[in-house]
Amino acid sequence: MPAISFQSVTRNFQTASGSLRALDDVSLDIGEGEFFGLLGPNGAGKTTLIAILAGLLRPTSGRVTVLGHDVQADYARARRMLGVVPQELVFDPFFNVREALRFQSGYFGVKHNDDWIDELLQSLGLADKASANMRQLSGGMKRRVLVAQALVHKPPVIVLDEPTAGVDVELRQTLWQFIARLNKQGNTVLLTTHYLEEAEALCARIAMLKQGRVVALDRTSELLKSASGNVLRFKIDAELPPALARQARITGRIVQFPAHGAHDIEQYLAAVREAGLHAEDVEIRKADLEDVFLAVMSDKSGSGADIPSAGAKPSSGSGAVREATGVEAK
Ligand SMILES: Nc1ncnc2c1ncn2[C@@H]1O[C@H](COP(=O)(O)OP(=O)(O)OP(=O)(O)O)[C@@H](O)[C@H]1O
Ligand SMILES: [Mg+2]
Repeated sequence: MPAISFQSVTRNFQTASGSLRALDDVSLDIGEGEFFGLLGPNGAGKTTLIAILAGLLRPTSGRVTVLGHDVQADYARARRMLGVVPQELVFDPFFNVREALRFQSGYFGVKHNDDWIDELLQSLGLADKASANMRQLSGGMKRRVLVAQALVHKPPVIVLDEPTAGVDVELRQTLWQFIARLNKQGNTVLLTTHYLEEAEALCARIAMLKQGRVVALDRTSELLKSASGNVLRFKIDAELPPALARQARITGRIVQFPAHGAHDIEQYLAAVREAGLHAEDVEIRKADLEDVFLAVMSDKSGSGADIPSAGAKPSSGSGAVREATGVEAK
């Protein structure tokens, strides 16, 4: 039985300018004990999918189960299995940190939970903030409390929607050590993040969403293998000519080209020289998940055709009817 199963999940939103299909026939099974990454650009549908998983939003069609429990028909039991760290910083301003965690324990009917609460406070660097009011905490501290709140009832399935946004380097490391330990102990983890190096390091399997559709789904190692080998990277002193710029990934003065072999490298450097530009700090590095992500997202067909997608359900035809039902959240 999968820890999380999304079965043909579609969600439409009614907007001022018409209707929007935020999720389009998403099917995905996440096994028990997996560390799974859900990636996609802003607006791809990640948070919508998580809101449906958490029972906060109804799908327009499709079904979601958590350890076999239907999130709609069997809401209380499905919710009990889940610890969700939301993307938005939401908290009760009247509680201090310990009270907020006790309240959350009570919500799930967990009594005498102070030992675990202390361990959470310790592991997340919140021990000295236990009596601080939620209003007094910095943004990063609030996010730590949200993580503690999600874990307070020891859920077997942990869902993290950008848990490290705005979190400093040190806590990121502590947080990942802690989550990795929970995963080793058997907890399932579903993570969304825009820090692709985190996803590459942590997630054994990854799905990529683009405009509400699964466009890549595979083991992280396979996705990396599908990338074009190496990347040529250098700094330039002026703008690249458009023909070259189209092939490059450009960050300020740094440009990067996918390079299959020595021939590619020579060609790009020669083209830069011919354009009268000067390349500095030239280096060659292995392609990483960010390169794969950019390749998948820039694929004009929108199907991620170059990327292996074993287990991914092929996306349905392009003529899908774009209607909205206007069904609102629970
Ligand atoms: N309540 C809503 N009403 C109308 N449109 C919505 C609503 N919630 C989300 N959307 C739209 O659905 C799409 C998916 O949004 P979602 O928040 O799921 O994206 P995301 O992948 O989580 O993005 P991000 O990386 O920015 O967090 C977006 O186009 C968004 O504007
Ligand atoms: Mg989101």
